Amino acid sequence: MNYRHAYHAGNFADVHKHVALVAILLHLRKKGKPFAIIDTHAGGGLYDLAGPEAVKTNEAGEGIAKLRGAPVRTPALRCYLEIVDAFSDRYPGSPLIAAQLLRERDRLIAIEKHPEEFESLRRALAPFRNAHAVCGDGYRQLNALLPPPERRGLVLLDPSYEETDEMETLATAFAGAYRRFPTGIFPIWHPLKVKSRIEAFAGELRSAGPLKLLSLTIDVDHTDSSGDRLSAAGVLVVNPPHGLDLEMEAASAEILPLLARGAGASAMVDWISPPR
Ligand SMILES: C[S@@+](CC[C@H](N)C(=O)[O-])C[C@H]1O[C@@H](n2cnc3c(N)ncnc32)[C@H](O)[C@@H]1O
Repeated sequence: MNYRHAYHAGNFADVHKHVALVAILLHLRKKGKPFAIIDTHAGGGLYDLAGPEAVKTNEAGEGIAKLRGAPVRTPALRCYLEIVDAFSDRYPGSPLIAAQLLRERDRLIAIEKHPEEFESLRRALAPFRNAHAVCGDGYRQLNALLPPPERRGLVLLDPSYEETDEMETLATAFAGAYRRFPTGIFPIWHPLKVKSRIEAFAGELRSAGPLKLLSLTIDVDHTDSSGDRLSAAGVLVVNPPHGLDLEMEAASAEILPLLARGAGASAMVDWISPPR
């Protein structure tokens, strides 16, 4: 195992992805009917921003640290910052952020493959009665978990892209998951280095069926093409809730100036397959 999210927790890409996650969960909470959240690549759940990994990269210093105390207006961004600020020098990952937004009858299933990360995840989720940590392969677990009995919810697919064929694996797993749960909301995180690769990936996702697909991207340093350090990333959202596009435009307009490393920084919200 090479990838450890502790080096990257709270960076610009986490901020952008987690704001989108919160925005979607706030939509799901608008209706009384319970929902399920499945986080297929959950990570360790809670990260020490004063620990050696975070200090070494300073990615959180250029990410979440820039937002602390900022006077933000967009509801999803405010909610995200309220959750994150409660952890001060630690950063909550996607399962812990999601767990804070569960209501009495909602459920979270968070899957992590690597035993050490899983142990941390298990501890982070222990206080939440309706959050379950599972040690296993997130792609494989999907078969058994979908459709959820609630018939409402989201499946976050957030792999570390350690394998060169990860996009193909993900697209195949998504096709099966979408067949089982065509009304689910699927946020899929991706790094953004080569635009044509993401376009091809989005094309593969679309071949799963007549889905709605929204692309949310952030590029904090347009001039950085060195490839050493991530400077652009995105979330492809299958079946985004109505209004997510406008909310993420507003949230992105607030976070971009805080996270930008260069003058060419940008954040985009684009429909790849709009609602009909
Ligand atoms: C990008 S990190 C997750 C970050 C987390 N979703 C968040 O936003 O806080 C990806 C995680 O997936 C784990 N992982 C890699 N392959 C996996 C698989 N097939 N199934 C489940 N977890 C996996 C890695 O160990 C790593 O902790």
